[in-house]
Amino acid sequence: MKLATKYIHAGTEPDPSTGAIMTPIYQTSTYVQSAPGQHKGYEYARSQNPTRKALEDALAIIENGKFGLAFSSGVAATDAVIKLLSPGDEVIAANDMYGGTYRLFTKVFQKFGIKFHYVDMQDVSNIESLLNTNTKLIWTETPTNPLINIVDIAAVAMIAKKANALLCVDNTFASPYLQNPLVLGADIVMHSSTKYLGGHSDVIQGALVMNDADLREKLYFIQKSCGAVPGPMDCFLVLRGIKTLHLRMKQHCENGEKVAHFLRNHPAVLKVFWCGFEDHLGYAIASKQMRGFGGMMSFTLKNDSIENANRVLSSTRLFALAESLGGVESLINHPASMTHASIPKEERIKNGLTDSLIRLSVGIEDAEDLIEDLKMAIG
Ligand SMILES: Cc1ncc(COP(=O)(O)O)c(C=O)c1O
Repeated sequence: MKLATKYIHAGTEPDPSTGAIMTPIYQTSTYVQSAPGQHKGYEYARSQNPTRKALEDALAIIENGKFGLAFSSGVAATDAVIKLLSPGDEVIAANDMYGGTYRLFTKVFQKFGIKFHYVDMQDVSNIESLLNTNTKLIWTETPTNPLINIVDIAAVAMIAKKANALLCVDNTFASPYLQNPLVLGADIVMHSSTKYLGGHSDVIQGALVMNDADLREKLYFIQKSCGAVPGPMDCFLVLRGIKTLHLRMKQHCENGEKVAHFLRNHPAVLKVFWCGFEDHLGYAIASKQMRGFGGMMSFTLKNDSIENANRVLSSTRLFALAESLGGVESLINHPASMTHASIPKEERIKNGLTDSLIRLSVGIEDAEDLIEDLKMAIG
């Protein structure tokens, strides 16, 4: 099936009781049994819900995987993956990733005896030097948040296989439309469905997709035992979002390219981080593993002061100053004080997240209006 057809039909069947074309919102906590243990596959809604089931089937289909699991947030999905581990296990993670993932690893799981190493995964040999018999998981994100670095998923997957460790890829920035990590050898794909999958800034949700049935059983056990499940209304919203993912992503890519080139030619802009530039360090890998370059980018200003960045951040009219990304509307964000504030300053600066770095989630409005807005704000 071609992508557009797949996104529109993934997971949804006409409702068996009414023929409703869209999966209903099964707003129920439990299901009536005809006799003890005799039910229709649904016992209690933390364990199973038909709206969630339709979404989980759709997630598997759009990521070219076998099994999908939906969680109450992206970090809840990440949390479930780390709960596969035991004290003494080690994780090698990317040093440039979503700040909330870093916070979960360092502030929540480290104290339970799981050891995390952070490396620049643009050079995969950095991973090899940290491997040992305790390495159970490699965690990466590509393109990274917010520096839009690219990690070679197939190369990391080979390293993970050799080391007998799982590879989980946070695919939030690319979305399944641009990249399918399972096809490149990853074991688990993670999404903050809050972003491109939902696509309309109206839901918080997370997802995991995998191929291995045992792994699915372990993660399902964690999902139902720990209870971070999404409500049926939120599942419905993400299911609906998926139906237009291809159309939105095409426009995000088109607008992203225009805005990135505009910024690069602006005399007040120092550097633009966007993986579609041919001189981007990861361009060759991005061209190989992605279907397009997306609408996420960051930039710094020549006058590299926090005051100057603040002036730009508070002057846009269309780009809304807000955390999050991947919605139809454009957002502007200051990683140092917003999304990545939980990373200690030295660690942040060491990894290239300077005080004046500005991140854009380019939406699907008219690109000319977006460029006018930035022109006016940057001055
Ligand atoms: C790349 C990435 N991963 C994970 C998350 C966490 O997702 P959520 O906010 O849905 O918990 C985010 C949120 O911004 C993100 O940008």
